[in-house]
Amino acid sequence: MATGSASESDSLFPSLSSSEEKEELQRLADEITYHDRRYHQEDAPEISDSEYDRLRLRYKTLKKKFPEQTLENDPDNRVGFNPGEGFKKVRHPTPMLSLANAHNAEDVLDFLTRTQRFLGLPQDTVLNIIAEPKIDGLSCALTYQRGVLVSASTRGDGQIGENITENVKTIEEIPQNLPGEVSNIIEIRGEVYMSKKDFMALNAVQESENGKCFANPRNAAAGSLRQLDPAITAKRSLRFFAYSLMTDLPDVPNQLDRLNKMKAWGFKVNSLTRLCHSYEEMLAAYEVLEAQRADLDYDIDGLVYKVNDFVFQKRLGFVSRSPRYAIAYKFPPEQAQTTLRNITLQVGRTGVITPVAILEPVNVGGVLVSRATLHNADEIARKNICVGDHVLIQRAGDVIPQIVRVLDPDRQGRESFTFPETCPACNSPLEKEGEEVALRCSGGFVCPAQAALRLRHFVSRGAFDIEGLGSRNIDLFFETGLIQTPDEIFTLQERDKKSSKPLSQWEGWGQRSADNLFKAIEQKRRIVLSRFLYALGIREVGESTAKLLSQHFESFEVLYEALTTFTLNEEDPLYQELRSIDGVGPSLIERLSIFFSDERQKSVVARLAKEIQILPDERRLKASPVSGKTVVFTGTLARTGRREAKAQAENLGAKVVGSVSAKTTYVVAGEGAGSKAEKARALGVTVLSEEEWQALISDQGLEQPDGRDGEV
Ligand code: IVH
Repeated sequence: MATGSASESDSLFPSLSSSEEKEELQRLADEITYHDRRYHQEDAPEISDSEYDRLRLRYKTLKKKFPEQTLENDPDNRVGFNPGEGFKKVRHPTPMLSLANAHNAEDVLDFLTRTQRFLGLPQDTVLNIIAEPKIDGLSCALTYQRGVLVSASTRGDGQIGENITENVKTIEEIPQNLPGEVSNIIEIRGEVYMSKKDFMALNAVQESENGKCFANPRNAAAGSLRQLDPAITAKRSLRFFAYSLMTDLPDVPNQLDRLNKMKAWGFKVNSLTRLCHSYEEMLAAYEVLEAQRADLDYDIDGLVYKVNDFVFQKRLGFVSRSPRYAIAYKFPPEQAQTTLRNITLQVGRTGVITPVAILEPVNVGGVLVSRATLHNADEIARKNICVGDHVLIQRAGDVIPQIVRVLDPDRQGRESFTFPETCPACNSPLEKEGEEVALRCSGGFVCPAQAALRLRHFVSRGAFDIEGLGSRNIDLFFETGLIQTPDEIFTLQERDKKSSKPLSQWEGWGQRSADNLFKAIEQKRRIVLSRFLYALGIREVGESTAKLLSQHFESFEVLYEALTTFTLNEEDPLYQELRSIDGVGPSLIERLSIFFSDERQKSVVARLAKEIQILPDERRLKASPVSGKTVVFTGTLARTGRREAKAQAENLGAKVVGSVSAKTTYVVAGEGAGSKAEKARALGVTVLSEEEWQALISDQGLEQPDGRDGEV
């Protein structure tokens, strides 16, 4: 497993060349971004925390190895996730931060002594600390103007959240008006959550209606609140505990008073909150709460200690992203014993196959659990898990309940689980990449579990870049059966003409939006080969690999013929030809073989090729003013974005690199460009602004090769 130190995980991937590793780095950034979105934005995580951590570790290792690599979607540049598509954005007047964690009683003592020291108080002074249950939901900021609720937002990335005002107005426990005289603006923060009972009832409905269950009450609350349609939120039972009054008011100088103030205004504040006067009382509060935990009707995952006095809180201030005046002390996971009834396989939207344990339903900390994740085949083998076993399971901050271990390993007559070789959803072969533990379905577009995500990729910016066909429309068309494979994008208009309910009559659509969409699709009927190849979403075929292949084979026909006929035999001349391409290694060749030997995928490509015109990449390189030149892009390119600028430059025959040297011809410096531009100047390399660069390349006066008429 790719855990442990960076050097350890390095040695696990010895066979990858550095260009493959660079491709992998970008792919990991995209994959982590996808899972961040699933977790933070869509409230539907697909992988466990530990699998996620593995991706992050590998990412970190590769990033260290290629510090100059320009990355799209770098997850290190985000906290949480950007506000979701479709929600208006709200900037928080003060950032919504996170809390530092205490892992044991000693950390709690450290927190207390550190705080006293910081405030210059003798160690024997009584410092009032309030201990509040840490509610496991999602935080929400509410703004009242002259006593009226005017705005509600999620945390988002901590600076900018999503505007969920209309959704919040459907929550009964959140008052829409504050009684009496209140100051102009009042901001209140707290936790929106779902009770255990409501969570189980909701899952029962979900299961019977569409089979999509929420992993825990937190995800259910988040999924219910972050709905574009507030009518859906209204149908879900959400609750709210207020815990922060952000506005300074003279009559409430400490947290306890603020909680009481909010209570007087009609908010629910948690009644298990305790004021502690010593370290011993702090620990006792933890123990009492932990003992009550399973009997509460809502999940708490620990408690939060806060310095009570606001004068002290202000003096303590913040370190990086957390306040110095508070700390969270989490509870250990809740566990229970049960029997493993069966193991089924689930295919995620990225094709990852996750074995799921079907359990004899058991109460874990007040929630009935009937499924647990088994992560992957290695984990089943490592834990030596067989159907029929008596197992210990746990529910933690982790996304989905897990099996900790088998309790009766001496069982007889139970057979170990054998993983199938094909995908349960589409029958395509499963593949393993490098040393990756997860098995993936190779079915791509033909796998019903993956098709929607593949289509999203197909229309994305680096690929077909079809305006108006964003993720939401793709999902809509996919779910309604209008577009199942990419070729159907290009037959949409014809089919629509014959439809009894054309798109222009759909809710939220009109003739104009339908026409605009058809026009946008029409404009993309011409595409360069490399973009086309990239759009297919073949594993390991990122933008640069797609370019290598298209430059080598030059035309779609030649490339298609080669890729559909070569064999994995080293004696095969076509195999040798592929191997001779600089940057193409055995692992990539294997991916190509798997993709192009699948008749169904081949037929998608063939149908698609009939609908569109695939142009060679390099038709007009020689005349370009930048062909053969070495270019570095740095800073934010406001007009085109980095990825587009790079693709443009490469289409014009320039070589785009990440670091500046004496061999660099141009450094294009966008906004916020720093050390690279400085280095260029020091080396006497020409530094261009984005406008100067655009002027230079627009001089080339040649036809755009990728059907993006007049757009570049
Ligand atoms: S105080 C600077 N009090 O825990 C953050 N947070 O890990 C101050 N939470 O984002 C937050 N119960 O969503 C606070 N009684 C409580 C809480 C609480 C749950 C959540 C909240 C926050 C996260 C921090």
